[in-house]
Amino acid sequence: MGPTIDLHPSTSSTGSFVSTTVLEGGAAPRPAPTAFLEVRDLSVHFPTDDGLVRAVDGLSFQLEKGKTLGIVGESGSGKSVTSLAILGLHKGTRAQLGGEVWLGGGELIAASKEEVRRLRGQEMAMIFQDPLSALHPYFTVGSQIAEAYRIHNKVSRKAGRARAVEMLDRVGIPTPDKRVDDYPHQFSGGMRQRAMIAMSLSCNPELLIADEPTTALDVTVQAQILDLMRDLQKEFGSAIIMITHDLGVVAEFADDILVMYAGKGIEYGTVGDVFYRPEHPYTWGLLSSVTRLDRLRQERLKPIAGAPPSLINVPSGCAFHPRCPYEPLTGGRGSSEVPLLADAGNGHLVRCHLAPEQRQQIFLEQVKPIL
Ligand SMILES: Nc1ncnc2c1ncn2[C@@H]1O[C@H](COP(=O)(O)OP(=O)(O)O)[C@@H](O)[C@H]1O
Ligand SMILES: [Mg+2]
Repeated sequence: MGPTIDLHPSTSSTGSFVSTTVLEGGAAPRPAPTAFLEVRDLSVHFPTDDGLVRAVDGLSFQLEKGKTLGIVGESGSGKSVTSLAILGLHKGTRAQLGGEVWLGGGELIAASKEEVRRLRGQEMAMIFQDPLSALHPYFTVGSQIAEAYRIHNKVSRKAGRARAVEMLDRVGIPTPDKRVDDYPHQFSGGMRQRAMIAMSLSCNPELLIADEPTTALDVTVQAQILDLMRDLQKEFGSAIIMITHDLGVVAEFADDILVMYAGKGIEYGTVGDVFYRPEHPYTWGLLSSVTRLDRLRQERLKPIAGAPPSLINVPSGCAFHPRCPYEPLTGGRGSSEVPLLADAGNGHLVRCHLAPEQRQQIFLEQVKPIL
């Protein structure tokens, strides 16, 4: 039996981005956090025939209820593996897990499989990238939402169905009392996405993880889905982790942003810090390839040169150094020394060898003018 997990701690702070803890280098055991969700030094490694895949390597962040954290990074940076770790979905697999995941005062990495399974449906929900993978083609949309609800709420079939109609209505499906009996293929792509959100929200999860929920949708539907999630968050007070490769999407939606590269956090702070005053050269690259929802413009402006690294042979020093245009300014440290995720002021954390003044100057003089 794992530790009992209390999801309703009496003390809860409501501040947005609070980072007074030292995120790296501390060896002494630390007390349980007060944040609703706190990930500490998480690592997820996969042994494979080709070598050890370091998918997530020393990742730390925190999130309060009612707040949204955007996790951003190119494909293969470890975003989905991180969310699966928070949901306990690596348990019983060959994945090697390290670090701590604290949710509502309980620690999940060391908790039993049963404990995590119980928590997963009731308190956590995940919206997957592909709605078809979450909705079964042989059952009506309504019956699937009702089942998701009834797993954790001992109510009659009739009450389950009523809940399904209510949730379909909440996510903006017209005539929900009729559409509740449709099969997934009778829904459009945007409606399936809404139905999946309805299913995820049917038991008022305290933590909602949305893994690239809008990638396949056109820009107008994307904006509608984001509005909807914001409304539901206001009502239910859920904590949301929004995963995307697109900084523009989270800038509209999140309170804090964590930028990942090769399994590590490389920039972390409020939207104001990371989107408007970014200091990491990788974040600059992401920014210049951003989707502007306001301008309905979707073309990639300036993709970052080069490809994300192999997570089996991660480059020495700073993992981004082979692609970094400013690497020559580090005097060789870029390729020899792993930079720490250090506070650049007011809890804005940046993992870069360049000095903060140097980064701020480059951003203002060279990057900002071309965005
Ligand atoms: N079960 C697994 N076994 C081996 N490697 C994996 C496994 N799951 C994910 N990976 C690898 O981990 C890395 C991070 O994957 P992922 O978290 O899915 O990236 P993304 O940021 O695109 O969501 C990728 O290189 C991926 O190939
Ligand atoms: Mg992914």
